[in-house]
Amino acid sequence: MTTAYLAAQGFLDPLQEELRRARVTVSAVHDHLVISDEPAVAAAWAANIWHDCIEWPVASIGSAAKALRDIQRNWAMYAPLHHRRAALIQERLPHVSAKPIVFPANAPTAPLGAWTLLAPDRLLAAAACSSPFPNGEVTFIEDKTGPPSRAYLKLWEALVRLRRWPQPGERCVDLGACPGGWTYVLARLGARVVAVDKAPLDAKVAAMPGVEWRGESAFGLEPESIGPVDWLFSDVICYPARLLRLVERWRASGLVKNFVCTIKFQGETDHETAAAFAAIPQAQVLHLAHNKHELTFMLCLETGS
Ligand SMILES: C[S@@+](CC[C@H](N)C(=O)[O-])C[C@H]1O[C@@H](n2cnc3c(N)ncnc32)[C@H](O)[C@@H]1O
Repeated sequence: MTTAYLAAQGFLDPLQEELRRARVTVSAVHDHLVISDEPAVAAAWAANIWHDCIEWPVASIGSAAKALRDIQRNWAMYAPLHHRRAALIQERLPHVSAKPIVFPANAPTAPLGAWTLLAPDRLLAAAACSSPFPNGEVTFIEDKTGPPSRAYLKLWEALVRLRRWPQPGERCVDLGACPGGWTYVLARLGARVVAVDKAPLDAKVAAMPGVEWRGESAFGLEPESIGPVDWLFSDVICYPARLLRLVERWRASGLVKNFVCTIKFQGETDHETAAAFAAIPQAQVLHLAHNKHELTFMLCLETGS
């Protein structure tokens, strides 16, 4: 059984270290694609995980395209090498829309495979992948006037990947909220937001209906002083271990239904703490296309919206 892990752009080293720690034996590295002849493991630094890959010889461009089409309709090409030959194959496949998404919208549900040319005459393909987007990349029709920072894009992406988002009237806590990109998104969805940051929010965001700002430290806030919340968000800049303790405190309180938190790394990647986040039952830890040197932790303790 072959699995291929496509590293998030610029994050091949953390992916390889993560796989090494998970005791995955790597059989080959094809540019940013790390290949293993073992079953898939969770890998946060992979933008896309290719499951049950198959490899076959390419006799001709036409036969390669036909072989892919015979498996399923939708395929995303990964062509760091042999690009021109690969493009000739992709041209013979049905078009896959990569139109920017208008938030809020669900991620596509149609199966999307991935393929590459390992050599001009060897093709590696997987019909099932972890990301619903080609090579894990998603773009949005941006909101250039509303949010006061570009951080809103990673929240949009997290909610699209979760396939759920705060509903009108739901109660949210946004830790590390300033200047207010995330709070803006939540308030636009009609949610009520307690925005926590020592720094004040952008005045336009602070004036949105349902927004309450608290000029406190996220770490001093007692869950019981807030009460039940539908969503706990955090984009606080802090060491991952400190965020983990904060998440554990809120989780232990039983007051939170859903978590979306950015795990930020300064300098070295703290793999141990990232693994501790991933070990939380039902948690997902992903490197989103809009993440920098950070991961997004998502946990939904209640399904359906
Ligand atoms: C990356 S910014 C957040 C951006 C925000 N999510 C947005 O969409 O505009 C990180 C924020 O964390 C805040 N922060 C740092 N330490 C904090 C703490 N102990 N408690 C609350 N906020 C904190 C900083 O003041 C900063 O505003």
